[in-house]
Amino acid sequence: MNPILLDVDTGIDDALAIAYAVHSPELEILGITTCFGNASVEETTRNTLQVLEVLGAEEIPVIAGAGNTLAGYPPREKASWIHGENGLGDVKLPLPTRRPLDGNAAQFIISEVRRRPHEVTLITVGSLVNLATALRQDPEIAGLLKQVVVMGGAVTVPGNITPHAEANIHADPEAADVVFRSGVPITLVGLDVTMKTLLRRERLEDWRRENTEVSWFLADICDFYMNAYHQEVDASLGGCALHDPLTVGIVIDPSFVRTTPMKVRVITEGEERGRTVGSEHLSSHVQVALKVDSDRFVSHFLSRVVPQVSF
Ligand code: BDR
Ligand code: CA
Repeated sequence: MNPILLDVDTGIDDALAIAYAVHSPELEILGITTCFGNASVEETTRNTLQVLEVLGAEEIPVIAGAGNTLAGYPPREKASWIHGENGLGDVKLPLPTRRPLDGNAAQFIISEVRRRPHEVTLITVGSLVNLATALRQDPEIAGLLKQVVVMGGAVTVPGNITPHAEANIHADPEAADVVFRSGVPITLVGLDVTMKTLLRRERLEDWRRENTEVSWFLADICDFYMNAYHQEVDASLGGCALHDPLTVGIVIDPSFVRTTPMKVRVITEGEERGRTVGSEHLSSHVQVALKVDSDRFVSHFLSRVVPQVSF
């Protein structure tokens, strides 16, 4: 089993990533930490607890993290046009029956990494503020993490929140800068590959036919995401991007992507703020995913995210 920590800003594709991870026996989820991003940290924490309740995975610890950027500024406007006002496509769920654990995300990351040195993979699918905070408090964890798989950046393609920047890096470029400079081994899963991993509308009908609480919930939240992609992103794509699930996928099977070692620098100033600039460098600690076997990944994701009901 592969011990993982998930750092999320739940979010519709974050919810898909959580479901994929929960249903993957290769992964041992040590805990889920939250931060601002698709919605406020209070909302992303509530959403994470709610998603875990729908999945019947209430045993997984949830720890709230940063509500502001590393530099202490309030987050930019939340991404309600993609994820809905509540972050989950405006699908209503009962309030969670439990609260997040006491403590904060950065401390939890430090203690789990120190408890299992060189074993833990951290998957980040939101801004990098929790990891940057942890690295500032305990820089040695950079050498104790097995690896960090980051959903973020756009090295060879345009951004999605500005022409230059991807949303997770743009949410807190200073935090991303701290992480990329720390020397921690990183696999960067950016728009270069995630925009090629599409969930098509027909799959939502397949899920509804499964007729379980999980399958209806995922289909309902993805309806919103699908419509948003159609109206706000690119109708010609014919689906919505599986950004966050791809990071989970490559921890299960790294051959879903092909990576290139690159030095990656984050632009923190001016109109290109939040841009990730990469240049090939054989001995870099950053591997950038530039090719993806999307058919094989999407099939694997679909075989896991909604457990099949046997009649
Ligand atoms: C990333 O931004 C967020 O809106 C998504 O959840 C994903 O993590 C894509 O750029
Ligand atoms: Ca996310």
